[in-house]
Amino acid sequence: MGRKLLLEHINVPGIETYDVYRNHGGYKSVEKALKTMSPQEVVEEVQKSALKGRGGAGFPTGMKWSFLAKPEGVPRYLVCNADESEPGTFKDRFLMEKLPHLMVEGMITSSYALGANTSYIYIRGEYMFVLEILEKAIAEAYAKGWLGKNILGSGYDLDLYVAPGGGAYICGEETALLESLEGKRGNPRMKPPFPAIKGLYGCPTVVNNVESLCTVVPIINIGADEYLKIGTEKSSGTKLISACGNLARPGVYEIELGISVEEFIYGDEWCRGIANGKKIKALIPGGSSVPILPAHLITKTATGEDRFMSYESLSDGGFASGSMLGSGGFIVFDEDQCIVRNTWNFARFYAHESCGQCSPCREGTSWMEKVLHRLETGKGNMRDIDLLAEINKKIEGNTICPLGDAAAWPVAAAIRHFREEFEWHVTHPEEAVKRNYGLLKTPSITL
Ligand SMILES: Cc1cc2nc3c(=O)[nH]c(=O)nc-3n(C[C@H](O)[C@H](O)[C@H](O)COP(=O)(O)O)c2cc1C
Repeated sequence: MGRKLLLEHINVPGIETYDVYRNHGGYKSVEKALKTMSPQEVVEEVQKSALKGRGGAGFPTGMKWSFLAKPEGVPRYLVCNADESEPGTFKDRFLMEKLPHLMVEGMITSSYALGANTSYIYIRGEYMFVLEILEKAIAEAYAKGWLGKNILGSGYDLDLYVAPGGGAYICGEETALLESLEGKRGNPRMKPPFPAIKGLYGCPTVVNNVESLCTVVPIINIGADEYLKIGTEKSSGTKLISACGNLARPGVYEIELGISVEEFIYGDEWCRGIANGKKIKALIPGGSSVPILPAHLITKTATGEDRFMSYESLSDGGFASGSMLGSGGFIVFDEDQCIVRNTWNFARFYAHESCGQCSPCREGTSWMEKVLHRLETGKGNMRDIDLLAEINKKIEGNTICPLGDAAAWPVAAAIRHFREEFEWHVTHPEEAVKRNYGLLKTPSITL
């Protein structure tokens, strides 16, 4: 049984309520930090833990915190990114819904470290029921003295707010999120300046993912040295994986980073293999924005090494034969699934979600969607396949934010690994249309 840091008490009845959470060690990290550590010591502990941001890019959390500007007389903000709109990713919703006090605790301890007296949880608009759960937990935390003025008599004040998102995937990009939080249209900002220098209302701001901030709680509780014993040298700790698609047991799992991909897919403790005795065809390991892997590159790398659930192993081989751990949105395709249809489906999502600010993304994502739809419906030609690669190159690296790259990479990877299937759609248009594609199964949450 793998070690659990976030989901240790997930099966305790009533763990979402204050009393049960507190009786199971809740709010201890706040006590430890505020009573025995300076804010700088908390930052240093998180830096030492080598925690990588769990929102997708894997940027070291402690390093991001250390960049926060601290000009005199200017407020600093901590903003939790709970926008979670990446297809295949649903672990943050699970955390906030089932363990709302862990979220609140993570916000308090992290805000203290950063010297923020006002913090926000920016939550995906569609998660309205979770917003209500969080607001209840925040009200309980105020009532018990964990929020508000002079917390635990330490002289530290914190107000925490939940803000509903703007209903767009782009609002998960950290600078678009800040625009949206300020009440404006969620368009990404040019960087630099980065939020650590000029963020919310022009003030120094840290934006972190839900899981990153929740993970600060066990790091402070057990200490960075103990945390570093879990995981691999380059990927410390545990990670939540939202596993979906054609799996026998899809759901949200907390894994110790470094277990093998094979064990995660086929192991009894985890996904228990492919549903209905089918064979695996492909895997997207880190949400819809990362490259797809064909069957022969899932459990082994291109050089024949075992593939592990870690940042370094999943990206082994670069984009030629690897992918990324990303947000942990683990999407499995069985032998019956159509890669062309899925690639089109994701392209449709990105075309719809492009904010339209940068022409390469606005135009390119729409063109990719159109060309892929043509291929998918048996109306494409061989030239279309190369055309997609050309559009890709025009988008990649030419936009203000990474949404363009996120749209381009999966298409490039699908063509790289499944070109024959794209060609088959051109040479067999009628069969392509008739084929029973079937969209991916909606995952049920299991543990
Ligand atoms: C289009 C787009 C959508 C994003 N959506 C999310 C999201 O829903 N949640 C999230 O944590 N990060 C999201 N990110 C990444 C954020 O910009 C940012 O890197 C992250 O919140 C930082 O948190 P972390 O360092 O704790 O990972 C998105 C990025 C892009 C480009």
